[in-house]
Amino acid sequence: MCGIVGILGRQPVADLLVDALKRLEYRGYDSAGVATLEGSHIERRRAEGKLRNLESRLKASPLLGRVGIGHTRWATHGKPTENNAHPHASGNVAVVHNGIIENYRELRAALEREGAKFDSETDTEVVAHLVNSYLAKGFTPQDAVKEALPRLRGAFALAFVFEGEDDLMIGARKGSPLAIGYGDGEMYLGSDAIALAPFTDDISYLEDGDWVVLTRERATIFNEANAPVTREVLKSGASTFMVDKANYRHFMAKEIHEQPEVVGHTLARYVNMATDQVALPAELPFDFSKIGRVSITACGTASYAGFVAKYWFERFARLPVEIDVASEFRYREAPLRKGDLAIFISQSGETADTLAALRYAKAQGLHTISVVNVTTSTIARESETVLPTLAGPEIGVASTKAFTCQLMVLAAIAIAAGKARGELSDEDETKLVQALVEVPRLMSAALALEPQIEKLARDIAKSRDVLYLGRGTSYPLALEGALKLKEISYIHAEGYAAGELKHGPIALIDETMPVVVIAPYDRVFEKTVSNMQEVAARGGRIVLMTDAHGAREATVESLETIVLPDMPATVTPLVYAVPVQLLAYHTAVIMGTDVDQPRNLAKSVTVE
Ligand code: F6R
Repeated sequence: MCGIVGILGRQPVADLLVDALKRLEYRGYDSAGVATLEGSHIERRRAEGKLRNLESRLKASPLLGRVGIGHTRWATHGKPTENNAHPHASGNVAVVHNGIIENYRELRAALEREGAKFDSETDTEVVAHLVNSYLAKGFTPQDAVKEALPRLRGAFALAFVFEGEDDLMIGARKGSPLAIGYGDGEMYLGSDAIALAPFTDDISYLEDGDWVVLTRERATIFNEANAPVTREVLKSGASTFMVDKANYRHFMAKEIHEQPEVVGHTLARYVNMATDQVALPAELPFDFSKIGRVSITACGTASYAGFVAKYWFERFARLPVEIDVASEFRYREAPLRKGDLAIFISQSGETADTLAALRYAKAQGLHTISVVNVTTSTIARESETVLPTLAGPEIGVASTKAFTCQLMVLAAIAIAAGKARGELSDEDETKLVQALVEVPRLMSAALALEPQIEKLARDIAKSRDVLYLGRGTSYPLALEGALKLKEISYIHAEGYAAGELKHGPIALIDETMPVVVIAPYDRVFEKTVSNMQEVAARGGRIVLMTDAHGAREATVESLETIVLPDMPATVTPLVYAVPVQLLAYHTAVIMGTDVDQPRNLAKSVTVE
């Protein structure tokens, strides 16, 4: 993971590097560093913890160089200490790296045999020593990198600077994304266009295996076979304005509250409000009636959006769906049928496992759709059809608005599939679309329950474990509720299909255990009530999330009942996501955790 940036500037670059790193903090935030060329020498400043620690370090001991590289880290090899922080240096070269060098052990052993002395436990440091070993043999910087790259196995985006080279920076990409920014007599490298947005709008993306030699005036790009290539320069459109929290205490709170608006924007892109019909923003290069099976792949919260969609595709389109977490899918050698459809869901569009799964499906001859929030991302660029979510930048590490926008897009695709396969009539389509149109209003009503949920969170915050239960599409939402709570409050939580309770987890129930039951009044409501009875009979404390109808019908006493408006069953996962997110959020605030940047996590997971 990690974020990298490089600047060949005309002014001192240290502050600009830090500014770019702030935009890359979503990729990791456990340590950071910069290296610049001071005269002809490379100097580094690195610090453990958040970027503000690096800023203090730079204030106390400024750097004035006009060429430099920077890094914000999510530790893979070695603890998040200052020593393990990038940039790593050896002799005449310093490097920043995003990704994993898989053969670092054997390289390290070989370099140590040649006399290299290692300062860190990282995989990255071998890259610095390897390139320096070629420099020491008299290779030019460009040739040293050219020799070193084929010896690296794994995934990487790299940026190098060299002692005595005031007009040179080299970048390389394999597996991890890397963009070149073209300025006016200045050049940039960055993990994404957003990092470079304050400096330039003119961006080109390196393709896998590419490497680039930058001077202030020119970018010379080579492919993996070292042949010069050109890569299109695009207008990035990434906003220069640093997304702010408005009046909210945390980005997560702001993003939860933005949902009626952004889900509404997404809806407007996918349905024709005048005719109440689905209108996908891209023409699909296949016919749904010819598809035998849909495979949905994603990670974490995005996979739960896919899990909800499984119910929709099977119901609306009578299409069998397999849902997989990407880290399993990519290695389980799933037999796929050429011409079938694979859908990949990702907020960042950079998740390594999801990207690998996409490449696997493409190689098997499947049609591929990606549902992504970042349309310039690698997953978007590599899939056959991109169906974007319009959530806007999501900064809080815990996904909220991206999840509900993903659900909106997936609902539209499932309805389109149902229509194309003759399983939904015009009338069915109208009804479903009209239900989707109600979602922003229903979400606003759900947000109005915040004071009650905040009070309830005080109780949840005292718990050691929490169980979430649901049936039908509320089951994936139970999984999402548990994930949200554990990742930001650090309270252990599990999501279960309500009917599975008696097959094991019921053993956990006692009077200290809150059980959050997500149960809109739908065709499985009665069944879920029976499961609640089982919890109540064992002293468990029930938090019931239901609607007005369900609250009237539920015969079980609950610690708290959160009553949402009555609504069509199709849209409950979108609307019930709001109280589920608010409960996790307020519990975390009470626990005093770092809500937007919880420990050990990163927003974009570019390692497997
Ligand atoms: C949890 C969360 C993660 C992501 C997962 C996939 O709140 O945000 O589980 O959903 O890491 O990330 P993307 O969607 O960027 O592929």
